[in-house]
Amino acid sequence: MRAVTILCLMLSMPSLAGARSDTRVARSQDQPKVIRISAERFAFTPGEIVVDKGTTIEFHLTSDDTDHGFKIVGTDVNVEIPKRRRGETVVKYVADTEGEFVIECSRPCGAGHTAMKAVLKVK
Ligand code: CUA
Repeated sequence: MRAVTILCLMLSMPSLAGARSDTRVARSQDQPKVIRISAERFAFTPGEIVVDKGTTIEFHLTSDDTDHGFKIVGTDVNVEIPKRRRGETVVKYVADTEGEFVIECSRPCGAGHTAMKAVLKVK
């Protein structure tokens, strides 16, 4: 009788562990990942952002000089970044599609405007 009881306990343990880790994954997806990006003629810093698929990103965008834009090509994210000391733009994006997304400045800001890009990698 005793041996049977021990066997039952062992069988139930893997499913308990599985349920616990599922809860942890769900929580981490609910919590947005804050990524701060600074814009300056003619670059974004950091210029490369890497996240896991499913991550909810909360971009906090500021400028070190003039007005810039922040567009993630192929998504509906396209916002303005106010000039230096005029605050920050916060925009959320759920990275639910794998791939490399070009981020570009979407507001004319000078000679290097069209070259002002970054990349978002979703793995
Ligand atoms: Cu920065 Cu256009």
